[in-house]
Amino acid sequence: MNFPATRMRRLRRTDAIRSLVRETHLHPGAFIYPLFICPGEGVRKEISSMPGCFNLSIDEAVKEAEACAALGIGGLLLFGLPAEKDEQATGAWAADGIVQTALRAFKSNRKLDSLVQIADVCLCEYTSHGHCGIVARDGDHYEIENDSSVALIAKTAASLAAAGADIVAPSDMMDGRIAAIREALDADGHQQTPILSYASKFASAFYGPFREAADSAPQFGDRRSYQMDGANLREAMREIELDIVEGADMLLMKPAMPYLDVIREARQRFDLPMGAYQVSGEFSMLHAAFQRGWLEPERAMMESLLSIRRAGADFIVTYFAKDAAKLLG
Ligand code: PBG
Repeated sequence: MNFPATRMRRLRRTDAIRSLVRETHLHPGAFIYPLFICPGEGVRKEISSMPGCFNLSIDEAVKEAEACAALGIGGLLLFGLPAEKDEQATGAWAADGIVQTALRAFKSNRKLDSLVQIADVCLCEYTSHGHCGIVARDGDHYEIENDSSVALIAKTAASLAAAGADIVAPSDMMDGRIAAIREALDADGHQQTPILSYASKFASAFYGPFREAADSAPQFGDRRSYQMDGANLREAMREIELDIVEGADMLLMKPAMPYLDVIREARQRFDLPMGAYQVSGEFSMLHAAFQRGWLEPERAMMESLLSIRRAGADFIVTYFAKDAAKLLG
């Protein structure tokens, strides 16, 4: 008797067979690399909790972007650290804002043509209090206003599109922002600029290192009145549905690894192109384990990225983009 009849291991015997039957693939074109752009010249300041990631002045960011293009990376996600912050987040929507200025430099550089240049749209890096919207205070009580914030967020998106952003990506989680952004873009002649909506964004502890990178930690309170409760999958589906109705062209899910089930569910329900953001804390915790020799860096990095693709993400925003692209190259 030939027992067992079905032997799964037959297809695991050689590299060549394993490669032939592999279901999920990684490629550099599906990676988006975040850049943190700061004022000055010749600035390349490492972010202490994110090894290998930097605050870059525009001249240095151009070099970094050229390196990404040479590696075949699909795109960049741009964040700004303005010279000054205020209650109205002026730096977010100013025509000469830091990201607007960087975009103009990037757009005049033909070596960067292969990169989709995505501008993150949010106010938290630009407000003095670090919240993603306008704060209304009443004695001890404060509220992050929705509608006045949305007006500034739409204005920010239009200004980034005017500066040359290929795609705008709102990450604020205010209600109605997608419709408002679409209207503002169209009114300014940017009918062809797509909106990549951070449709499902949870209030997560995993954004910790980013807040150092972007200097955007809220000075009081937290983001739980606008970002989602990590316990809620059905609510995430409603958020996505609303953003689609309002005109989102693409979806971004965030964070990635602690929310793979949410990515999976969204992939099954919706047909829009969908990315996932492997956020700063996901990157930093892996790096901490690499530094201690507790995990094999290359294997753990690739496995983490593969899990996100397997869950259903078409593309991945990741701080590992360059390292992973080098390995795949
Ligand atoms: C801005 C924004 C944040 C991230 C992306 N856009 C921070 C936040 O919501 O607090 C986090 C990205 C990361 O952790 O890598 N709102």
